[in-house]
Amino acid sequence: MTREPMSAVDVIRSKRDGGRLSDEQIDWVVDAYTRGVVADEQMSALAMAIYLNGMDAEETARWTAAMVDSGETLALTSSRPTVDKHSTGGVGDKITLPLAPLVAACGAAVPQLSGRGLGHTGGTLDKLESIPGWRARLSTEEIVRQLDTVGAVVCAPTDGLAPADRKLYALRDVTATVESIPLIASSIMSKKIAEGADALVLDVKTGTGAFMRTVEASRALAAALVEIGQQRGLKVSALITEMSVPLGRAVGNAVEVAESVEVLRGGGPADVVELTLELAREMLSLAGLSVDPAPVLASGEAYETWCRMISAQGGDPEAALPTPAHVHLVPAPADGVLATLDAYAVGVAAWRLGAGRARKEDPVQAAAGIICHAKPGDRVRAGDPLLELHTDTPDAVPAALAALAGAVTVADAAPDPVPLVREVLRSVT
Ligand code: URA
Repeated sequence: MTREPMSAVDVIRSKRDGGRLSDEQIDWVVDAYTRGVVADEQMSALAMAIYLNGMDAEETARWTAAMVDSGETLALTSSRPTVDKHSTGGVGDKITLPLAPLVAACGAAVPQLSGRGLGHTGGTLDKLESIPGWRARLSTEEIVRQLDTVGAVVCAPTDGLAPADRKLYALRDVTATVESIPLIASSIMSKKIAEGADALVLDVKTGTGAFMRTVEASRALAAALVEIGQQRGLKVSALITEMSVPLGRAVGNAVEVAESVEVLRGGGPADVVELTLELAREMLSLAGLSVDPAPVLASGEAYETWCRMISAQGGDPEAALPTPAHVHLVPAPADGVLATLDAYAVGVAAWRLGAGRARKEDPVQAAAGIICHAKPGDRVRAGDPLLELHTDTPDAVPAALAALAGAVTVADAAPDPVPLVREVLRSVT
């Protein structure tokens, strides 16, 4: 047995007592945890010490590099410039679905290694799996080939990508150490750097439905993400975007695919169209392409790319999407203007209806979700349907209704509109 050069207890003690971790300590502890030499209970203690005492920019950059080095790097290059997008997670956030084919139709290559939902935020792969036949797992060769032929791939990360993060994220999830800026920033950026795109646009959510509920916390996370990217020579932009209200009208799996297809066919809710175009403009600018995405979306070219992207992964873009066994209508409580529709409550309700999972091995229901018939600012009449709850398991409805208690308020006048894109931070590479 090889002798380890340091002890996990000493590393934990350094951070517990408010010190900085040295480069050697970080490299060793991340590598030894990946190899199983540092035990889960030791990494839990270190994650909590980091949660409580933080890491500075240099420690965070080194921690990210150690997680990248724990696995393979993909170099997802193509004959076109590659540009990726990552969202920190929200409710009704289906933007990847219209965005990836749109940016590909504008001339870039978009490798989108995506995740599954956990907790109240949905997962892109769970949504796409509601399309009959669609396959999330591709080999590296398949990803590279599809990038060249279609220009867009949305799939699961390959097994060898940042294994330290996969292990650590699962541990953080059960030890109340997710909401730490250095740990979130290094987790996201390790996967993106390992993927090897030339440029990255981050959608950092802010509000009740986001990890970071205040603009100040979201700005700090955005700054940490941009800083890590910049140190690695990656072109990065971070848009801080509103997440106090669900995006669009559909929250769930198949219902979000249907809404994305509406957007790709030139319709869909205004906020989904606006955010798709804002993110597309930023991605194209980082990729050095001066193309206006709005006419490409309106022309149907992005929809054609979507159909090719879905077919290339075994899906049938024309197939009917699953429908729920049970629909429960929630009426508007009063006459007036809808003032609030809380994103977190709607996300939790959709999750309880079966759209999300409590443990990562749980299955999700493709047809589960919520359709919002009104959004803040819309006029409503008492008794008219406001929310449509979709599920295959009607006994889940009471728990969903309990999650929605207090989520809706109706007022006499429309609330002040909040801009969808609050701020933009850019790297200076
Ligand atoms: N998403 C990630 O990939 N990692 C985190 O830590 C939080 C959100």
